[in-house]
Amino acid sequence: MSGAKNSALKLMAATVLAQGRHILRNVPRIADVDTMADLLARMGASTTWSDEAAGVLVVDVPETMNAEAPYELVERMRASIVVLGPLLARFGEARVAVPGGDDFGHRPIDMHLRALEELGASFALSHGVIEGRAERLTGARVLLEYPSVGATENLLMAAVLAKGRTVIDNAAREPEITDLAAFLTGMGAEVSGAGSSTITIEGVERLDPVDHSVVSDRIEAATYLAAVGMAGGAISIKGARADHMEMLLEKLRAMGLRVDDGSDQLWASAPDRLAAVDVSTLPYPGVATDYKPLVVALLSVSDGVGILTENVFAGRFRYVPELVRMGADIRVEGHHAVVRGVEALSGAPVRAPDIRAGAALVVAGLAADGETLVSDAHHVARGYQDLVGNLVRLGADVAYEDASS
Ligand code: UD1
Repeated sequence: MSGAKNSALKLMAATVLAQGRHILRNVPRIADVDTMADLLARMGASTTWSDEAAGVLVVDVPETMNAEAPYELVERMRASIVVLGPLLARFGEARVAVPGGDDFGHRPIDMHLRALEELGASFALSHGVIEGRAERLTGARVLLEYPSVGATENLLMAAVLAKGRTVIDNAAREPEITDLAAFLTGMGAEVSGAGSSTITIEGVERLDPVDHSVVSDRIEAATYLAAVGMAGGAISIKGARADHMEMLLEKLRAMGLRVDDGSDQLWASAPDRLAAVDVSTLPYPGVATDYKPLVVALLSVSDGVGILTENVFAGRFRYVPELVRMGADIRVEGHHAVVRGVEALSGAPVRAPDIRAGAALVVAGLAADGETLVSDAHHVARGYQDLVGNLVRLGADVAYEDASS
């Protein structure tokens, strides 16, 4: 198991908060980490793998930086916007290109900006770039309209260097938030309550570099659980954290997957056929929206009818027509997908619309009759260190057709 993409990227952004040499361990070797390294390089920080096989990344942060995230990088990776909070906190200024839509539809950043404004930042939009300024951020109580992961992260990273106390109410509770808080605490920040809905931060004058190991990737773990649910057999997943995916495990168990939690690993085995259940995505500790394509793929071959309800992002069903090409019986109505389980899928050429949907199509291909060719597989490389290699080790017949692309 790798470290979580959705944590590693934010921790890399957080290094901007302190000059010096940071060491990040358990960093996944994925394209999005390279993109964040490109962004840090653009801002003046250097990033090197000191032990690539072990995922040890060293980030050297200089005294002065170019406080800018250009469009070409924000467009390539939306998570780039989390440099906004740390740049404002350390340098009192930031220029960050506004991300456009992506495969999840329109993903606004209004909550990020409103939250930072409450700490005294001001923003102006010009030529597609948000220009932020703040003399010195000042702590405040901020009530988030929705427990947004990105807004909580940007606010947390800004608040650690603000003057006085910040209280974030209705904060996101994802394990990656807790990991970020632990990282910041290691730097000398005073953060309490991360993992709950109220996070309190006492601002400090300065932070120091840190040595930190990234939390394990619950979405990657879910991908391998889905692979077993789909193809049958048994698996042990080293480093997977059952306590970070409880609601998903409850659903998978209700579908008939047997999952046992050992120390530092998960075991799972699948029955001949899973049973359909209804699943709703919700902010943590609910079933994460990122698991959704995997769950839909599982439901597509389960016994019965399952209704999947998406409550986090409008849309995000672009992979459904691809599963339908493989013989799945799925009907999307607004933010619900009604999935009628079929006996078997049939391999077909399909297109990966994004990271997790791409992985779900690969997983679906495991149980499909004949060959499944997933194009746009570069999306999968954005988020998985070695999906193909790991599936092969599990006995699957999967390969990159054109490794260079
Ligand atoms: C992060 C994750 C993503 C995950 C999501 C929810 C990364 C890189 N991405 O995305 O994989 O699916 O959390 O767990 O870590 N919203 C607004 N205004 C804002 C911010 C968000 O309206 O300013 C809305 C979004 O449109 C969405 C909801 O809030 O409907 C949740 O978004 P958010 O939790 O912020 O997700 P991200 O941080 O973008």
